Amino acid sequence: MARPLLEELKKFQGLIDRALRSYFPPAGPYTQRVQKAMAYSLFAGGKRIRPMLCLMACRAVGGRMNNALPAACALEYLHTYSLIHDDLPALDNDDYRRGRLSCHKKFGEATAILAGDALLTEAFFLLSRREVMKEVQPRIRVQVIQEIAGAAGIQGMVAGQEADLEAEKKKVSLPFLQYIHNHKTGALIKASLVCGGLIGEGTAGEIRSLRKFGEKIGLVFQIKDDLLNVEGKAKLLGKRTGTDEKKAKATFPVLMGMEQSMILGQELVKEAGKTLKIFGSKAGPLRAIGDYIFLRDR
Ligand code: IPE
Ligand code: IPE
Ligand code: MG
Ligand code: MG
Repeated sequence: MARPLLEELKKFQGLIDRALRSYFPPAGPYTQRVQKAMAYSLFAGGKRIRPMLCLMACRAVGGRMNNALPAACALEYLHTYSLIHDDLPALDNDDYRRGRLSCHKKFGEATAILAGDALLTEAFFLLSRREVMKEVQPRIRVQVIQEIAGAAGIQGMVAGQEADLEAEKKKVSLPFLQYIHNHKTGALIKASLVCGGLIGEGTAGEIRSLRKFGEKIGLVFQIKDDLLNVEGKAKLLGKRTGTDEKKAKATFPVLMGMEQSMILGQELVKEAGKTLKIFGSKAGPLRAIGDYIFLRDR
C-alpha cells in the first residue's frame, strides 16, 4: 500500500475519532455498563471507511468537510452497531472483532444487544440535533436522515443480513449473492457517499455519480471481505479467518473461486473510477480510497 495514502487515511481517522469522542453521549446513573460496551466497540481501531467516504464526498462536491463530520460519526455509530449484532451467537457467532473479544464475549449478550440498540438510536439522535447539524439546512438534514434510514433498515442492511442468514449452507445464484452483498454492506457505503454529497450541496448529477460509485465500491468492499476471510491474516484483520467456510456462508470465493473474485473486484474498481469523471481533479481522494478498498489487507 502506498505510504502517502496510508498517512492521509490516518489523518482522517484521527479527525473522525476526535469527533466521535466529542459526540459520545454523557453517562446516566445506570448506564455505565452499556456505555462501556458501546465505547469498547466504537474505539477499538475500526478503519472508519464509511465516515471517510462521507467526508471525501462532501469535499469532492466542493463542500466544507467539517459540515459533514456529525453525519460521518452517525454512520460509524450505525456501522459499529451492525458489527456488534453481526457477531452475536444468533447471527455469525464470532468471538473477535477489531482486534479484541467481540462485544458479547466481553460484556455478555444482553449488554451487547443493548449497546448495539443504543448506537443505532444514537446515530439518528445525532442527525436530528439542530445544534450539531447547524451548518446543514433542515431540508438537507431530512434527506440525509432518510438516506441513512433507508440504507440501514428493511430495504437495506437488515434485508441483506436476513438474506445472508437464509443463504447459509445453500448454493446460491450470482444475482442473489450480489443482492446479499449490496444490501448487507453496499447500502451503507453508498449512503455514506450520498450523504457527504448532499451536505456539500452537490448537484443532482454529482449525487447520481456518487451513488453509482458507491454501488460499485460497496460490492467491492464485501468481495474483499470474503477474500480476506479466506486468505487474510487474522492478526491484521482483528477478527478470525476461515469463519465463512465453517458457517457455509454464501461468498464470492465459494461461488466463483478466488481468482475470478479478484478479477471481478478489479473490474469493479475500474468501473467505479469511471463514475467519478464529473469531479475532475477533485476525484483524487475518492479514487484513492476506491483502490484502497480493494488492495487493503485489513
Ligand atoms: C466489516 O467492516 C464488516 C463489513 C461490512 C464487511 P469494516 O471492514 O469496515 O470493519 P471496521 O470498521 O474496519 O472494523
Ligand atoms: C457484515 O458482513 C455485514 C454487517 C455487519 C452488516 P460479514 O458478517 O460478512 O462481515 P464480517 O466478516 O463479520 O466482518
Ligand atoms: Mg454476517
Ligand atoms: Mg460476520
